[in-house]
This record gives sequence, structure tokens and C-alpha cells, in this order.
Amino acid sequence: MSGKFITIEGIEGAGKSTCMAFLRQRIEQRGLAVVETREPGGTPLGEDLRALLLGHKHQGMSAEAELLLMFAARAEHLQQRIKPALARGDWVLCDRFTDATYAYQGAGRTLSAERVAQIEDWVQGPLRPDITLLLDIPVELGLERAGKRSAPDRFEAESLGFFRAVRQAYLDIAAAQPERVKRVDASLGLEQVQAQLAGFIDPLLAVAG
Ligand SMILES: Nc1ncnc2c1ncn2[C@@H]1O[C@H](COP(=O)(O)OP(=O)(O)O)[C@@H](O)[C@H]1O
Ligand SMILES: [Mg+2]
Repeated sequence: MSGKFITIEGIEGAGKSTCMAFLRQRIEQRGLAVVETREPGGTPLGEDLRALLLGHKHQGMSAEAELLLMFAARAEHLQQRIKPALARGDWVLCDRFTDATYAYQGAGRTLSAERVAQIEDWVQGPLRPDITLLLDIPVELGLERAGKRSAPDRFEAESLGFFRAVRQAYLDIAAAQPERVKRVDASLGLEQVQAQLAGFIDPLLAVAG
């Protein structure tokens, strides 16, 4: 029996990390093995690259360098963790993946989607998530939630305009790929957000038996 590759996306403060635990529990309740991971990161090299990407040491990093570091971390992540887990039949639950690259480095940093797609094809081959849960939230509300959580990282310190472009890019991806990308209204309370998540994930679990 093969596991599913599930990714969770959305701007800062949308509730991604909060929802990971719920999803994990829901899958494990069925007796299925889950690998919970995140991007950028998920491996020792990836977590070091994450620190470079999110930290404030390299403020003026070029968009191209940022894009390639994201994919460098992803290449390592795929090879060391994601592909082995899927090969074992485990379910993989990943906090952000390549849709975030289209949204942040594409729309946010204004690199072309074609460029992102070229590298995606090279790094991933045909591998794409089975389902992507997009936690959609107005930018101001997301940033307000994120601001209460911790000091802003290099992305969280970006402008409202940047995050509006990121949010819109996510919505555009969801509109273009409705089979894979499911929009969740993340502005609601946690119980209502979880009910939406269950509505998308339970059919997959039913098929898994
Ligand atoms: N549905 C919700 N309603 C209210 N607050 C929430 C909700 N989901 C998450 N939060 C809170 O918002 C903050 C950001 O959530 P988090 O899961 O860290 O977001 P993300 O990982 O998407 O940046 C946390 O303090 C979390 O407890
Ligand atoms: Mg998070």
C-alpha cells in the first residue's frame, strides 16, 4: 500500500505548523506511518540552509541565490527523506514545498514561473504532492498571528505588498490545479479549520483502508 505525499501551504501565521499536528494524528489514527517534515529543512543540510535563508545575516541575498538555495535544500530533502519514506509506504506530511517557491521566489521576488518550473522539473522529475492544503488567510490577519508567535524572520519582515503577491500566487495555483490544491479558509477558528482539513484528508484515508 502506498503512502501519500501531503503538503501544507500558506503565508506566515496561516496556521500551517498548528495544523500539522492535527493531520498527523488523523493519519496515525488509521494505523498509518507518518513522516512529518518541513521546508526549507528536513535534513541536516536543509536545516543549515534554512538558517541561511530565514536568518538576517544575508539581507541582500539575490533572488536567484534564494531560489537555488531553496531547491538545493529540496534536492537533499527529496533524496534523504521524502523519496525513501514514500518508497517504504509511509505518508509524508510536509510544511511547505514547491508551491511556496512559486509564491515567494516567483511572485514575491518576481522571478518567472517558467524559471521555477524548469528547476522543479530538474530537481523533482515527475514527483509532485498528491494533495496540497492551502491555508488561505488575509495578509493582515496572518501577520498579526505570526507576530504574536516570535520575532520576524527574513521573510516575515517583508512588506504587505510582498505578502499580498504571495497570497495571490497561492490562490492562482489553487485555481489552476483544483484537483491537487485544496483551499482552506484559515481565517476561521481552529475547530472550523480542522473540519475543513478533515473533509479533504478523510477521503484519502478511506481509500487507504
Ligand atoms: N485557526 C486559528 N485561529 C486562531 N489562531 C490560530 C489559528 N491557527 C493557528 N493560530 C495561532 O496563530 C499563530 C501562527 O500559527 P502557526 O501554525 O505558527 O502558523 P504558520 O506555521 O502558518 O506560520 C500561532 O500562535 C497559532 O497558535
Ligand atoms: Mg510554521
